[in-house]
Amino acid sequence: MGEPFVQVRNLVKIYETPTRRLEVLRGVNLELYPGDFAAIVGPSGSGKSTLLNMITGIDKPTAGEVIVGDMNITATKQRHLTKWRSRNIGIAYQFFQLLPTLSVIDNVMAPMDFGNVGRKNQRRERAMQLLEFFGIQDQSYKTPDMLSGGQQQRLSIARALANNPALLIGDEPTGNLDRMSAEQVFRVFRSYAEYGTTVLIVTHDRHLVRDVPIIYALNNGILERTTVDEIEKRRTQEIKRATQEWHTVQSQEVLQ
Ligand SMILES: Nc1ncnc2c1ncn2[C@@H]1O[C@H](COP(=O)(O)OP(=O)(O)OP(=O)(O)O)[C@@H](O)[C@H]1O
Ligand SMILES: [Mg+2]
Repeated sequence: MGEPFVQVRNLVKIYETPTRRLEVLRGVNLELYPGDFAAIVGPSGSGKSTLLNMITGIDKPTAGEVIVGDMNITATKQRHLTKWRSRNIGIAYQFFQLLPTLSVIDNVMAPMDFGNVGRKNQRRERAMQLLEFFGIQDQSYKTPDMLSGGQQQRLSIARALANNPALLIGDEPTGNLDRMSAEQVFRVFRSYAEYGTTVLIVTHDRHLVRDVPIIYALNNGILERTTVDEIEKRRTQEIKRATQEWHTVQSQEVLQ
């Protein structure tokens, strides 16, 4: 099977706030190989975005190690990481993180320009192809704020793919898309994985996750391999518990 492309070892992240100490990641381990297509599920606030930010090196852990390819992410200073990241990792963010003053097409070209990837005169053409693929080519000279939420999301995915990254990270990359567009995006991710890209996405979408071969759940700071059946079982239990809590609240005198 060769070497893993992503190695996460005993990752711990603690947020210290004036009022409390929040242990978000409590010893997370993960290995992903070239061509793996993996999803992370978990309740809101469980630390999924935090974990992705540690893997991409955008944020530093309290303890533990992340290695991507031959780059020790945790041991490398931020300023040495940015160019490498733009060449090797494509990130579609939960809240898009588009560059507001650049046009749509310049947003897609930004990682190519910054990473100095491909020939200069071919970058615009490639960017346009990506926009066409995601059906937003007619938006190319607008700024991102003029786009709908779903269009911004597709733009952020197009940008993530711009440099043909070896590692593709998506933080709820289809949260704002209709079913057909979301399925299209997942098909694209799968085909990248088939060509050897390591794909790791966070998703709440119960339908789409069915087709993802490797699924992890993040609960109480621990990441564990799971299955679609286990996710459904947990969900049923959570709904039951929430319903019971609701009935308790309803029966309290305060509301009567
Ligand atoms: N900079 C920070 N300082 C303090 N607490 C933080 C910080 N960033 C995140 N948190 C807390 O860490 C926890 C995990 O946040 P995170 O954004 O990783 O959750 P998530 O699983 O991505 O949730 P969602 O599904 O809602 O996006 C939350 O309780 C959040 O409030
Ligand atoms: Mg999140």
